[in-house]
Amino acid sequence: MKKLIFICFILCLSCKVSTGNKDTFQKNSNNSSNNLNIEHRVDSILKLMTLEEKIGQMNQYNGFWDATGPVPKSNEKAALKYEHLKKGLVGSMLNVKGAKQVRALQKIAVEETRLGIPLIFGFDVIHGYKTIGPIPLAESASWDLEAIKKAAQNAAEEAAASGINWTFAPMVDISRDARWGRVMEGAGEDPYLGAKIGVARVQGFQGEDLASPKSIAACAKHFAAYGFAESGRDYNTADIGTSTLYNVVFPPFKAVNEAGVRTFMNSFNILNDLPATGNEFLQREVLKNEWGFDGFIVSDWGSIAEMIPHGYAEDIKHAAELAANAGSDMDMESSAYVLELANLVKEGKVDEKLIDDAAKRILRVKFELGLFDNPYLYCNEEHEKDVVGKRAFHDDALDIAKKLIVLLKNENNILPLKKENQKIALIGALANDKTSPLGSWRIAGDDGTAVSVLEGLQQYKGNTLTYAKGADVVSPGSNITFVNELKINETDTTGFSEAINVAKAADVVVMVLGEHGYQTGEGRSRTKIDLPGVQQELLEAVYKVNKNIVLVLTNGRPLAITWADDNIPAIVEAWHLGVQSGNAIAQVLYGDYNPSGKLPMTFPRNVGQIPIYYNYKNTGRPHGKNSDVVFWSHYSDESNKPLYPFGHGLSYTTFSYKNLKVEALPNSKFKIMVDVTNSGTVIGKEVVQLYIQDKFASLARPVRELKGFVMVELEPKKTKTIELMLTEKELGFYSQHGVFIVEPGEFNVYVGGNSNATLSTTLILE
Ligand code: NOJ
Repeated sequence: MKKLIFICFILCLSCKVSTGNKDTFQKNSNNSSNNLNIEHRVDSILKLMTLEEKIGQMNQYNGFWDATGPVPKSNEKAALKYEHLKKGLVGSMLNVKGAKQVRALQKIAVEETRLGIPLIFGFDVIHGYKTIGPIPLAESASWDLEAIKKAAQNAAEEAAASGINWTFAPMVDISRDARWGRVMEGAGEDPYLGAKIGVARVQGFQGEDLASPKSIAACAKHFAAYGFAESGRDYNTADIGTSTLYNVVFPPFKAVNEAGVRTFMNSFNILNDLPATGNEFLQREVLKNEWGFDGFIVSDWGSIAEMIPHGYAEDIKHAAELAANAGSDMDMESSAYVLELANLVKEGKVDEKLIDDAAKRILRVKFELGLFDNPYLYCNEEHEKDVVGKRAFHDDALDIAKKLIVLLKNENNILPLKKENQKIALIGALANDKTSPLGSWRIAGDDGTAVSVLEGLQQYKGNTLTYAKGADVVSPGSNITFVNELKINETDTTGFSEAINVAKAADVVVMVLGEHGYQTGEGRSRTKIDLPGVQQELLEAVYKVNKNIVLVLTNGRPLAITWADDNIPAIVEAWHLGVQSGNAIAQVLYGDYNPSGKLPMTFPRNVGQIPIYYNYKNTGRPHGKNSDVVFWSHYSDESNKPLYPFGHGLSYTTFSYKNLKVEALPNSKFKIMVDVTNSGTVIGKEVVQLYIQDKFASLARPVRELKGFVMVELEPKKTKTIELMLTEKELGFYSQHGVFIVEPGEFNVYVGGNSNATLSTTLILE
């Protein structure tokens, strides 16, 4: 009987579930992105499904191999999950990796369940799968949308070859708080840049055709306002007004929806007193209705059950009711839907139409991925061997890693380093670390696979290189992956004397300091954002004997390094750069690549300035004529200014800006023109940034907003006229009722190499 239904089902869909031999690996060319056809097929299946099977599609379980959240301890629970899988009560699994394992589980779903509906396998492919690239915040510092797209494309190809159909990326949460560990996973503080980067990532992951064996579905997360966690503490409450929600938080989500992202993830946080997971306004009103999103929303890990401690759901059944009614389609690891939803439907507390809608959304994406045409499309072990870790992925990882390194400071042209007859001292545990550069969120990556800075610099043979550790960042042997930072910070200074001796004898000292790879990421918020452990003391001790220091920072968030900025002549922000880390850093330090990265997030002088961001609104008492007395908006003990502004980044050459002009075109369009000259002596790239200020509006508007950028490469002494466009899309904003409005009036226009650009003009929108 089981088989019969299965066969009828197959016939009715006129598609063949294949066994995934090599010859069936190629995607079935009939598998169309033909929407009508897909809708028809989705409806046909839905008609065959019981209520329990539909709810099963809405259930996602962790695959037990790798946990990225609290795991159920009892085996009993694991056994129940396995039973559910065999009964067709699981629609998706996460954290299963490798073609072989994926195939084994897919086989159960396809061959042992009544309807044989394939599973969709999700994984956090955040910055590469096995070939770990730079962390997303770092990638964003490249401002190079093509390179970012390529990185996502490679990650998708590699993950897909290893059985993965769906990544929980990109994280498009805007954040203004460097204390929040997850800033490493996003594109920084700016909604315009964040939207562009989010779209590039989605296009990279999903490609032209989702059913290609090289592409995977993307997931925009965390909807919404997770990046506004109070005091930067992960999972904390977010409390923001409508204007910030619509003008700052939503734009990247809206943009990736318009770019066709197939899934969204809701978030752990309460937003204005309502948990995002149970928030009907966010999920149904805004996303599904207003924005017309027709993919599906997955909850975050256990976030349905977490509505109980939020004090919003009475118990797990109530949580399931609230989440399903609010539009959360798939339950990640709460088991709330699979255990409670059928009864809730029978009791009339959840309308079966909502279950149908959720199941349809999930099935639709499975069809688009080609899973019904070939459920084993993504599980070919030979193909996996050929693809995972390909040389080309490493080459591209190196390419983007170079492009995003930010030269923060370079006094007396201490950089680039001379290639010959120099005694170079290399100091810092992170300089000889092959794991930390992989950063946080790299669950399929292998420890020890990054090229260290030491290895990178050793390739330049003309100088003498001497290495001394100085001090560890975290205590050796700590279980850094899951343990709180408080317990792991190193305090041992016995290695200082060796470092001091090495520095004394050197012409130039390169110090690699910063954060261990797992000092940022989920659950890694910090109240201090300076150099952890005893690294600041090490820096100062070395400085006493040799001031010719190049400080290379490797970290996952903006750091408050005010002392270093005051004293150290050259500072390079090298983030956590992934497998090619040491090669990229060495090429930049030696000038084989002229740095072009620009900060996607403001660097504060002091943690007390947070939240600090360039697109703030003026107070009624800004800096001005009363600034010599206390009654203006400022601190008594620190400047209002950041250490490094958003968009900042130097080069080994210099750029000058002249002749800023605005030409008004029909239909409220404006052409902005500016002459950019390479005024230095070497070829270099510059990210030309366009900012506006709406001088007077029905809502207070930011002092500056990024509204365009373009990368230009110029030979020395060459000038190029750069053109950028402004339209109503850039000049308008969302009202307090969430309505997009365009108001006539005067705008300031600024163009330059960072958010403090001084060259300005005005335009009038009529
Ligand atoms: C929790 C994180 O918040 C989310 O971003 C991630 O995708 C899931 N865990 C799954 O690992």
